[in-house]
Amino acid sequence: RKEGFDHFMLKEIFEQPRVVKDTLTPRLPLDVNDIVLDDINMSKEVLEKINKIYIVACGTASYTGLVGKYLIERVARIPVVAEVASEFRYREPILDENTLMIVVSQSGETADTLAALRLAKKAGAYVIGIVNAVGSTISRDADDVLYTLAGPEIAVASTKAYSAQLCAMYLLSIKIAMELGKISKDEFLELREELYELPDKVGTVLEQADTIKELADKYINSKNVFYIGRGLDYAVSMEGALKLKEIAYLHAEPYAAGELKHGPIALIEDNSLLVGLTGHEELFEKTVSNIKEVKARGAKVLAIALEGNDEIGKIADDVIYVPRTHWMFTSLLENIPQQIFAYYISVGLGNDVDKPRNLAKSVTVE
Ligand code: M6R
Repeated sequence: RKEGFDHFMLKEIFEQPRVVKDTLTPRLPLDVNDIVLDDINMSKEVLEKINKIYIVACGTASYTGLVGKYLIERVARIPVVAEVASEFRYREPILDENTLMIVVSQSGETADTLAALRLAKKAGAYVIGIVNAVGSTISRDADDVLYTLAGPEIAVASTKAYSAQLCAMYLLSIKIAMELGKISKDEFLELREELYELPDKVGTVLEQADTIKELADKYINSKNVFYIGRGLDYAVSMEGALKLKEIAYLHAEPYAAGELKHGPIALIEDNSLLVGLTGHEELFEKTVSNIKEVKARGAKVLAIALEGNDEIGKIADDVIYVPRTHWMFTSLLENIPQQIFAYYISVGLGNDVDKPRNLAKSVTVE
């Protein structure tokens, strides 16, 4: 049931404060100064021997993997490769008992992701699944499961499941780093406080839905849309571009901001739109200089920025602000406007939002 919403996608977008809360808070009990992951049984002994992590998934779930790569490498200092399953499974990856594989899947039935998991298990690697569908094949075949508690997702375009995957990845990254002594108890308490504030902050972004609809109407005739960012923002840009492609059928490409001048900038014309993700503020000046280059060549710029960043307002045509949080968690908040933007463009173009052409919810064929 759509419960008064025009589409399942919109309903699922608006469920996100609850989904974020449900995925995070049961694992962060206030009477224990630790993250409690009931279904993760990997021992400290096994974890300490892990010298390489692969995060393998398809589509949107693979972008959760990219976020995970940035986070785990930075806080736990273990090398991570994030890769799409359809490539990983065919390239004879190097796997052994000191490898951890994290597979991410909403349905838990994606054929390529399942094949990658089986390859890893055969080689003796330890496999953790971040899965939404309880009892699915991936959840049964993985050594351990971290369930995303998003509830059933009906719209083909993933929204709330992706947010829940990010939350699961936040928990797992912090847990691994704590177990390895890379995050102290005090740092953890600070992170926990921020995580508890995330559901309300997601709600604050949702309050801007009408304004984002106006921006969608303004930019609905864009011919080419480029999403750019650096670091975690680059991972977020991938999800933004995919959402626009799959439900709005607009040509959209994500680029690492620094790569623009190595080729793609040649595509920029007067009717191009650039969505600039600037939440990774350590690299703000660098990304802004890329945004300026594109603007000078005629593109319109829609920026997604952190509240209180006045600088970006002087450069971009429009800015959507999201609340500030710990740098590890900005990806979740920055992505919500991208979902709403793609949704309203799709509606405005008269597309079948919940069942976009040529796509299936669960890809169980290779
Ligand atoms: O069920 P999964 O998470 O394994 O599915 C992976 C992709 O097929 C899925 O995320 C797809 O990219 C969605 N249509 C994205 O909105």
